[in-house]
Amino acid sequence: MDFRHIAIFASGAGSNAKQIIEHFKFHTTIKVSLIVCNKQGAGVLKHAINHEVPTLFIEKERFFSGDGYVPQLFAASIDFIVLAGFLWKIPLSIIKAYPNKIINIHPALLPNYGGKGMYGTHVHTAVIDAGDNKSGISIHYVDEHYDNGDIIFQAYCDIEANDNPSTLADKIHLLEHQYYPNVVEKCIRNLGSKIKLAVTQL
Ligand code: GAR
Repeated sequence: MDFRHIAIFASGAGSNAKQIIEHFKFHTTIKVSLIVCNKQGAGVLKHAINHEVPTLFIEKERFFSGDGYVPQLFAASIDFIVLAGFLWKIPLSIIKAYPNKIINIHPALLPNYGGKGMYGTHVHTAVIDAGDNKSGISIHYVDEHYDNGDIIFQAYCDIEANDNPSTLADKIHLLEHQYYPNVVEKCIRNLGSKIKLAVTQL
């Protein structure tokens, strides 16, 4: 069988990208074939080099006002797009080209703590400041609005009295690394149709 090819879009350290690359390293039908990045010097670029995954560096104007780099994605035979700490909104050109084939991970329990400006430590600070006793991860399909598409999977963690945004970020990263690669795999096995998973289905 032909490979299914994943592109991972990432702007930052890339710890989730690394987990996903490693998960599929010896997979017989699914492969991470491209890292798409918008930030010079981002940590994810080192993971791409270490694992010999090609990278595509993107620029704002072409991404938002041009072809969205869709021709490059098609040329790399990309079947599925995984956002892993990617901070730009996905333009309609890409959403139309990849219906139900783009997913994102958000470091909180959507629909709470989502939307523009809600990323990374901003999310964890808002959760701690609100005095919540639980947080978690949300993996969802991507539409033209920030953090808005149908939810595929959520997992929870407790927040203790002595947690701060940094310790909460560590807990969230652990959950992300534990679950995101498996959810990606399930989505690709159901390529093009929407799924909703429970923890027990992984
Ligand atoms: C992850 O926690 C991810 O959920 C978050 O950025 C971090 C990236 O970490 N994404 C967002 O906040 C998107 N709204 P990583 O670069 O180590 O994978």
